[in-house]
Amino acid sequence: MSLFGRIRNRIARSAGRALSHIVDRIILPSPSTHPMNLTSIKRAAQHLKGQPRVLVCVGSGLSAESGVPTFRGPGGMFYEAKIARLTHVDTFESDQRREMMGWYQERRDLLDTIKPNPGHHALIGLCQTGNYTIATQNVDHLLEAASDEADFRPEILHLHGSLLEVRCHDCGRSFEDLTLDLETLPTCEHCGGPLRPGVVWFGESLPHAALQTSAEASQQADVCLILGTSGLVHPAAALPETARQFGATLIEVNPNPTALSDISDIIIRGKTGEVLPVLLKEVERLNKIKE
Ligand code: OAD
Repeated sequence: MSLFGRIRNRIARSAGRALSHIVDRIILPSPSTHPMNLTSIKRAAQHLKGQPRVLVCVGSGLSAESGVPTFRGPGGMFYEAKIARLTHVDTFESDQRREMMGWYQERRDLLDTIKPNPGHHALIGLCQTGNYTIATQNVDHLLEAASDEADFRPEILHLHGSLLEVRCHDCGRSFEDLTLDLETLPTCEHCGGPLRPGVVWFGESLPHAALQTSAEASQQADVCLILGTSGLVHPAAALPETARQFGATLIEVNPNPTALSDISDIIIRGKTGEVLPVLLKEVERLNKIKE
């Protein structure tokens, strides 16, 4: 019996059934700490074996185990309201620009210290087994870093841009530079316009080519793998829905329920850094049997 079970039974014996019920609610593990569902992983692997066409929809949960904060969840309602303000183009055009750039600069400074986690590595490993397209909402470079380590670069589409890049808000000139401190409100040397991170904000359009290619991949996919996203932000959240309409099997990996759970065919409740390495091993095992 687990430690939780033993504690619950001991309390129940001394204080009766009512208290046992309360203890169940207070100290039993939350869904995010439940052991991985191996049956679901095996079912998912059956769909990923061979050479299926796979669209992977990635959200900030994939980088959470590398120390990159997610947007929603643990910080609560007030944190979420702050994030919504700091990721809107109107804020850049208001007198809150410096606060916004300070927040982005903190996230840019993180890029120097973070490393891909086992989830990134396993995803790149999966990509080497089939025909994968990754559409990521993440603005870090961790998938590229994992690809470089594996010496294998799958198609990675950045729907929300890149934090490594700096762009002029007025003339659109962009370049990669992590040394520039955006909190000092630097200006463009060509037109004098304000420089900003190369990300997409609420109120702006997504990069056309990345969105177009993702949309095409969603229509052609046999499987759509949804990793670490709440599925709340469109148009990225619409890709799995399109994939489903075009006949794809949807597989979600997330420790918590999301807006896409209801339409997912297979749900694996767990962290991507823990689930994906197991999934990769199972897919590789099945592929070996096939040979
Ligand atoms: P959210 O912060 O909305 O959701 C993060 C998701 O990651 C949640 O569903 C968590 O349960 C899950 N999660 C947390 N830890 C995890 C782990 N270790 N493994 C797997 N999943 C985990 O992040 P996104 O869905 O990426 O846009 O948010 C989408 C967009 O909203 C962002 O790109 C950003 C934001 O506003 C812009 O800034 C334009």
